Amino acid sequence: MLVIDHLVKTFPADKQSRRKRAAGEEAPSKVFAVNDVSFEVKEGELFTLLGPSGCGKTTTLRAVAGLDAPDSGRIAVGDRVLFENDGSGRATTVPANQRGLGMVFQSYAIWPHMTVFDNVAFPLQVRSRKTRPSNAVIRERVERVLNTMELVQLADRQATKLSGGQQQRLALARALVIEPPLLLLDEPLSNLDAKLRESLRYELKRLQRELGITSIYVTHDQIEALALSTKIAVMNAGQVVQLGKPREIYENPNCKFVAEFIGTSNFLNGKVESRSGDLYAVTTAGGPLSLSSQADLAPGDEVVVSIRPEALSLDLEGTHSGQPNVWQGKVQTRAFLGDAVDHIVLVGEQELRSRGNPSVSVQPGTQVQVHLDPSKLSLVPAG
Ligand SMILES: Nc1ncnc2c1ncn2[C@@H]1O[C@H](COP(=O)(O)OP(=O)(O)OP(=O)(O)O)[C@@H](O)[C@H]1O
Ligand SMILES: [Mg+2]
Repeated sequence: MLVIDHLVKTFPADKQSRRKRAAGEEAPSKVFAVNDVSFEVKEGELFTLLGPSGCGKTTTLRAVAGLDAPDSGRIAVGDRVLFENDGSGRATTVPANQRGLGMVFQSYAIWPHMTVFDNVAFPLQVRSRKTRPSNAVIRERVERVLNTMELVQLADRQATKLSGGQQQRLALARALVIEPPLLLLDEPLSNLDAKLRESLRYELKRLQRELGITSIYVTHDQIEALALSTKIAVMNAGQVVQLGKPREIYENPNCKFVAEFIGTSNFLNGKVESRSGDLYAVTTAGGPLSLSSQADLAPGDEVVVSIRPEALSLDLEGTHSGQPNVWQGKVQTRAFLGDAVDHIVLVGEQELRSRGNPSVSVQPGTQVQVHLDPSKLSLVPAG
């Protein structure tokens, strides 16, 4: 439904760089906020742009919304081209107010002098006479959206007299009421406490499924991205570094950046000893490992093995004795997390985090055998 091709957006370099260049020193003349980004969002998907602060998420979203003109690339919704500039000098740009998209931005603005009901009704009321629904239809649509966002009881309240979470839901309701073909959400759950964030996260997911809205969701919160998305594009420094379903990204990160950014991981440097198809034998500081990986690496290549804490289990009964991927270690510390227990185990000179069932808790100082589940290990190229 939405296709973005080779999107580039630069901003002029800051004063310091300009001063350097003026003095004949080397400095970049511009900053690549978005540097050749391409992706496709399918009908009904909740597509997430995930990445650290400053990686270009908001800039990408603003380009789709039509709030910033990109330098080059192409943006199309269905067969409608919203932006195109192939460098030939002829650019197509559809103005933001004609793109018909719903938006909730990082700093959401509600209209303080209006009631909750009027805030939501406003985007419909200001339409031109031709496209404006009747008052009865407006009322019906507003009530339906307020209902879904659980704001009905507050319909007559002044918008300023709402809690942060209620205001955020109001901002969402206002974006939803126009029934946009594409909804753009930039950190719509920021400014909320952890509990409210979580409950709104599920509410959003339910809405998305029920209404089948196609959305682009921006967040730097990896848990939120994993919980909500049908697809994730992990961004770093203006580029998409990996694109896939949440599980694929979590289980098969394609580089160290993604493995580090998504979830907690242990990292061990290693070297590929041999390979047969997808099966790899790798030597690491902790010991030898055999595992399967989709990565394309050759014997002799330096690699990093990413080991999720839940891939590392304490084998107290010796169930895996004599098998590959079993190492000896010593428990250093443990932490009770409620639904799990973490043990830090010293293997050789390396401290590894193991996460397991809260019923298994091992005294620090105990020698243990650790088993590494080969299906939960991933290989990424070193560097
Ligand atoms: N108007 C601007 N002028 C100059 N540089 C800008 C401007 N807007 C963004 N940038 C720069 O472009 C880069 C990408 O910014 P962007 O706002 O897209 O990041 P982000 O991924 O949304 O980050 P965050 O998670 O902090 O919101 C940053 O380096 C930022 O400093
Ligand atoms: Mg941003």
